[in-house]
Amino acid sequence: MDEKEMLSAGWRSPSNIALIKYWGKREGQIPANPSLSMTLSQAFTETRIMVSRTPEMSGIMSINGVKAHPFLLKLNLFYQWFLKEVPVFNGLTLQIQTRNSFPHSTGIASSASGFSAFTLCLLDLASKLTQVHLPEEHFFQLASYTSRMGSGSACRSLYSGYTVWGRTTLIDGSSDVFSVDINDRVNRTMEKLQDAILVVSSKPKSVASSLGHSRMNQHPFSGARVDQAHSHLAEALTALKQGDFEHLGSIAENEALTLHALIMTSRGGDILLDPKSLLLMQRIKQARAGGLPVFYTLDAGPNVHLMYPQSASASVRDFIQKELIPCCENNLVIYDHLGMGPQTLKN
Ligand code: PMV
Repeated sequence: MDEKEMLSAGWRSPSNIALIKYWGKREGQIPANPSLSMTLSQAFTETRIMVSRTPEMSGIMSINGVKAHPFLLKLNLFYQWFLKEVPVFNGLTLQIQTRNSFPHSTGIASSASGFSAFTLCLLDLASKLTQVHLPEEHFFQLASYTSRMGSGSACRSLYSGYTVWGRTTLIDGSSDVFSVDINDRVNRTMEKLQDAILVVSSKPKSVASSLGHSRMNQHPFSGARVDQAHSHLAEALTALKQGDFEHLGSIAENEALTLHALIMTSRGGDILLDPKSLLLMQRIKQARAGGLPVFYTLDAGPNVHLMYPQSASASVRDFIQKELIPCCENNLVIYDHLGMGPQTLKN
């Protein structure tokens, strides 16, 4: 590429929510256990990278025009790793434009959508720079492999619907270094799963997930946790195949409670739940006992994801408005659902 040229690539990539949680990892971003997630639709990141050659400069110059952007440090760490894998970017400068569809810092796994969108732009640019165009399946697998180095959960955002990351004997072709699409094993009734994200707090996470993962190395329950994740995965796969919403829900809730229990019982333990998260979890359980088809899950933060089938949308929205909204910060609920995966952006 010469000095007057500029190339650009833009991608929209969704966030995802784990039903079986990834918590704990080994060197090289190898997950301690397999995880299962659903790709979202309305919670996404859109990123565009402009690449050019500027004399005596190289690397990431700015994010949204800001040279000292708070994400630059994390992004640069990942980019330094990427440069060794894809050296064609050596000596080039990058300007990044990015935005999230969801309010900043609502803890809605912005690292998953952010790193997957960033990786897709980089690999798209790499194919423009080298004129090597991978078949679509390989391109997305490489994007999954690569984005995992920025944020583990990002590698699950590359596919639509349901995705598994981590080696398991239950799925041929599953891997610790990229995720796989498992939609051909899912009952059609599970294709319209809804997720209302109840935003309890939009404050940034008090504990970085990298610290949380590392605390699992010394955790007294780590062995039992890995065994549990494998058996939960087997149950969740059966529930997805049979269209058994109730069974999937009971596993997902147990996973959320396990995640927070592991966080609390780690050395230097933390409580990431808010009193309002607990209230929401109790109300959801009571509503289920009253016949409403709902379950919850949470990431490593206080916000609650309320899951339900599309057929129950009207009654669940009514329940949210009447009983759950008072626990949400500024009445914020993001209505989301199972999504289609990443999309390229037009120029
Ligand atoms: O991708 P990371 O390193 O931010 O870790 C994500 C961990 C959880 O969100 C708590 C669980 C998961 O599987 O997404």
